[in-house]
Amino acid sequence: MKNKILVTGGAGYIGSHTCIALHQAGYDIVVYDNLSNSSREAVNRVSSLIGQPIEFIEGDIRDAESLRQVFAEHQFFGVIHFAGLKAVGESVAQPLKYYDNNVSGTITLLEVMAEYDVKNLVFSSSATVYGDPERLPIDENSPRSCTNPYGQSKLTVEHILEDLAVSDESWNLIPLRYFNPVGAHPSGQIGEDPNDIPNNLMPYISQVAVGKLEKLSIFGNDYSTVDGTGVRDFIHVTDLAQGHVAALSYLEQQAVPVGFLPINLGTGKGTSVLELVTAFSEVSGEDIPYQFADRRAGDIASCYASADKAKDLLKWQAELSITEMCQDTWRWQSMNPNGYNAT
Ligand code: NAD
Ligand code: UD1
Repeated sequence: MKNKILVTGGAGYIGSHTCIALHQAGYDIVVYDNLSNSSREAVNRVSSLIGQPIEFIEGDIRDAESLRQVFAEHQFFGVIHFAGLKAVGESVAQPLKYYDNNVSGTITLLEVMAEYDVKNLVFSSSATVYGDPERLPIDENSPRSCTNPYGQSKLTVEHILEDLAVSDESWNLIPLRYFNPVGAHPSGQIGEDPNDIPNNLMPYISQVAVGKLEKLSIFGNDYSTVDGTGVRDFIHVTDLAQGHVAALSYLEQQAVPVGFLPINLGTGKGTSVLELVTAFSEVSGEDIPYQFADRRAGDIASCYASADKAKDLLKWQAELSITEMCQDTWRWQSMNPNGYNAT
């Protein structure tokens, strides 16, 4: 029988791509999302891409009763937990909203999982938990620290998961620490759809390329990097999606519980902001006007993963290049200049 997976936040950017990968790998999925940062249209498009309706429940992870109904109705092998808020600036302005949603919401989810004896969890953590890294590439044993409430909410959940694994050895808790997810499904049907002016680099570049935004500001050109601009480990969202499938399949193969097992999902390669702008311009054939601006508060010079643990344990590694990340972002952006909104 196919294992059934609850996907919280499955209507969002990474969740929607992961639903496709899970379906292709033979899992049954149930998506649970409050649509606070996504649209029903994303779920509809995933359904058409996989050629069958997705079981979708509109609900909030802070609503224990609603979760209980879902767990009572389905026998889950485990949960992939994407649901969360992710805007760093907003988290500084509204910290309580972030702690409530990301931390309290996760506690409620874990409590309901425990009630129904579902002890397998893959959690969306972030490279942000490494703060300003002491050494590169960043491995999973690097010290953790955070400078904003969003990052702190991810780190707090990691601490909660560690404590939980100590308290009860039957849990399998894998925080996947994503580096910088970019790109879109190769069909151009689903992708990242920021609500407002994007905070992150790739959606900003693609909106400049499509003519929605005038000019990119590059935050800092005096870092000690290859060309003075920030360096990041960009990873294609479909590679990231496969990483979740690999984590689940790893859990299915374990004879004894793994406890708390953090794993980086990155390519292991750093790319500078200017290198990404150049690659995008080449792929799209569009000019990307930019200007240099001051460094952004809280930014670090360079951040890229050691991807060894994922390769050793999960037998997973990222396959897609920066060119493919730009091509797929551009296809999504040019086919859907207004994201999931038709107008
Ligand atoms: P997203 O906003 O597109 O997806 C998150 C989904 O969770 C949305 O569909 C939203 O409606 C839903 N959601 C939020 N709060 C909820 C709640 N209380 N109950 C139910 N659903 C809720 O974001 P994403 O980029 O797909 O990120 C997924 C996860 O990965 C998040 O937890 C994010 O913090 C984490 N992450 C993202 C990145 C990135 O660069 N995108 C990097 C590292 C970690
Ligand atoms: C940011 C968040 C991080 C979060 C991640 C994914 C901050 C400080 N960090 O990471 O917590 O996990 O997004 O959501 O916000 N850049 C520009 N111009 C722009 C936008 C970005 O030059 O308009 C530069 C940045 O200075 C950085 C690089 O591009 O050097 C990548 O930025 P971004 O895409 O926002 O990701 P991170 O800062 O790595």
